[in-house]
Amino acid sequence: MMPPMGWNSWNTFGSEVDEIVVRETAAAMMDTGLLDAGYRFVNIDDFWQAEARKDGRLIWDSEKFLSGIPRLAADLHGMGFSFGLYSCAGTHTCGGRPGSYGHEAEDAKAFAEWGVDFLKYDNCYLPPGLDGRLLFRRMGMSLLGCGRPILFSACEWGRSEPWLWAASVGASMWRISGDIDDRWDSIVENGFRLLADLAPYAGPGRWNDPDMLVVGMHGVGNDEVVDGTGCTDAEYRSQFALWCLASSPLFIGADIRNLDKKSLDLLSNTGAIAINQDVLGIPGRRIGIHEHGGENAEVWSRPLADGSIAVGLFNMGNQAGRRVSVAWESLGLDVGTSLRVRDVLDDIDLGLHHHEFTGFVDGHDVMLLQLRHEKNMN
Ligand code: GAL
Repeated sequence: MMPPMGWNSWNTFGSEVDEIVVRETAAAMMDTGLLDAGYRFVNIDDFWQAEARKDGRLIWDSEKFLSGIPRLAADLHGMGFSFGLYSCAGTHTCGGRPGSYGHEAEDAKAFAEWGVDFLKYDNCYLPPGLDGRLLFRRMGMSLLGCGRPILFSACEWGRSEPWLWAASVGASMWRISGDIDDRWDSIVENGFRLLADLAPYAGPGRWNDPDMLVVGMHGVGNDEVVDGTGCTDAEYRSQFALWCLASSPLFIGADIRNLDKKSLDLLSNTGAIAINQDVLGIPGRRIGIHEHGGENAEVWSRPLADGSIAVGLFNMGNQAGRRVSVAWESLGLDVGTSLRVRDVLDDIDLGLHHHEFTGFVDGHDVMLLQLRHEKNMN
């Protein structure tokens, strides 16, 4: 029911994904503690398939996946992971491999037999004149009937407002936008701009997906995703904090085998993950935009099941150490309330505050806070 967490092969490996990469990544997820932190899914994106169907059946590329998909899935299950694959509603995938159009029920059965737990379903090469929503419904219904619970992830890029219909065809998450790049503008466009409007449509078991995390990529990966040197550490913190506040699925796109320490610590931050996975499942809303000198700061917040409130103070501009405040009144609280403020990412108690809290936030950085009523403290 809570936002799925894991790794997806696309951002770093694109068409080069193979069994060795997947096995090494899973081993690294265990060694680094990411599996224990909740990153349970190992998902292979496009390019796992052979170039053509065989006797009408979808098959894996046996040069890249020597032991075969069912063996790989079983081994990952044995390590404690869930396993995801990718297909497409059209005749071909976006990378030109066979799509599931016209084969929905038999492909869903094959996925079930192979031990698949998650299906990302894409939107390329739809036959002309067909309503894409019908094709997503076909696969959604086929998965429901395939005999194995398979989480359905609709990747139709927000084209026909999937937040209005994707849950009704069985999807637990839907992409709200095109592909994310390892670039601040892309985080702003896919994340901050769209999530602000779409928060009301998400909730337990139905999540807005602003695409993968680019945290830790540092400009290394699939050239459809990387652009130059990638984001700064501050920008990665902002992406992670926003995805956590928004209850968005957390899929790491970086090469986990070579993750730098700062990114690993960020992605493993237990306080931020707890906000993302909070059982109320109320996605954060943007409650304020403050303009100063032509640059904005944004304040986001969400209520949490234990009665505390998560708040993100984001400096969207370049100014260093910008003052960003959140007033209790804007959170719907009595101005006289005393709240204990915790900096979640840095794990620091910032003390008791009345009326408001003001943080100093560097360019493109964030302060992720958790505010508690004093009586909740133990
Ligand atoms: C795109 C999709 C990406 C990736 C790619 C694979 O349409 O948005 O996330 O799956 O196809 O070819």
